[in-house]
Amino acid sequence: MKKSKNRSLLFLLVFLIMIFIAFSTISVEARKNHRMKSRSPKNQKQRRRSDNSGNAPGPAPAPAPYYGSYPSHSTIFDILSFGAKGDGISDDSKAFQAAWKAACRVPSATVEIPSEFRFLIRPITLQGPCMPHLVLQIDGTLLAPPQISAWSKSSLFQWINFKWVHNFTIQGTGTVDGQGSAWWSLSQVNYIQKRSKYIPDIKPTALRFYASYDVTVRDITIVNSPQCHLKFDSSGRVKINNITISSPETSPNTDGIHLQNTRDVEIQHSNIGCGDDCVSIQTGCSNIHIHHSNCGPGHGISVGGLGKDRSVACVSSIVVENINIQNTLYGVRIKTWQVENSQSYLKLALLLI
Ligand SMILES: *[C@@H]1O[C@H](CO)[C@@H](O)[C@H](O)[C@H]1NC(C)=O
Ligand SMILES: *[C@@H]1O[C@H](CO)[C@@H](O)[C@H](O)[C@H]1NC(C)=O
Repeated sequence: MKKSKNRSLLFLLVFLIMIFIAFSTISVEARKNHRMKSRSPKNQKQRRRSDNSGNAPGPAPAPAPYYGSYPSHSTIFDILSFGAKGDGISDDSKAFQAAWKAACRVPSATVEIPSEFRFLIRPITLQGPCMPHLVLQIDGTLLAPPQISAWSKSSLFQWINFKWVHNFTIQGTGTVDGQGSAWWSLSQVNYIQKRSKYIPDIKPTALRFYASYDVTVRDITIVNSPQCHLKFDSSGRVKINNITISSPETSPNTDGIHLQNTRDVEIQHSNIGCGDDCVSIQTGCSNIHIHHSNCGPGHGISVGGLGKDRSVACVSSIVVENINIQNTLYGVRIKTWQVENSQSYLKLALLLI
């Protein structure tokens, strides 16, 4: 108790850290070389592929969002009126998808997941661009399929995938439950790897945003993801406020929030406790501000691993302050991959007040 108190005090007082980090796995000369080479189409293709490793295939540039004029009143699209049962057993994916599609066309619309109902949702993609001010109001519970066999090979990347959404808010007092416990046991994992031997080591992320901008996630609770709970990929202008993320300390690789190739993120007033990093900041992220939040149990807040497979990784302007870190394996750390037979260099400016 005393130990953890001391530790949290250490991080509690004032914890401001600024990291400007440029990481390359090759020497300066080699770097110039690489820059030239990377202009060739072959290399670009390879780079694109490596950028997207571990993610859904086939990214295309997001179409420009349509911002028409919009009225101030909001329109409610209740999932129940689209045929959802809300009994926790029936598959309500189609109703969810239909409610989303209808709301997407209307400015200031709200997709309502009503309280006291439990909706079983299979892996789905909720796609934009939609009209501005779209809200997903989660007051009830969204449940992922608990059996691994319910996930098809192509759906292993994530459970709920938000793609190309702009000016979008998720809020409410409800819960997003990944029901991931089956994914955490070794025998089950072996079973998946045997079944999908071409995409090893993949387990679904609960909520994933891809190529999305001006996104707010607030108040909701996300629990027991098979792997990562909330992920932003190739996105920007993200606000996370007052959310709770929870999975057992013993659940493997269950990151809280995972940021990749994403800019301008603020995470505040949130409680994150899970089996891996509370927040993981990956390649291509900049201007990330994490403050007034609790982390633990978990592996702390981490930057990286950067530079896997000799890739050039760049992360900049990370500010972490007023974080209460308790019962974690690490505090804040930077992970890099070691590369044999090449000169690596790491430029790092670290400011601790
Ligand atoms: C959506 O756009 C409006 C007007 O620009 C802004 O006030 C609001 O904060 C935006 N919502 C989100 C979630 O970014
Ligand atoms: C935080 O979220 C909870 C619901 O999970 C809500 O009851 C509470 O009012 C929110 N707090 C703030 C300050 O918005």
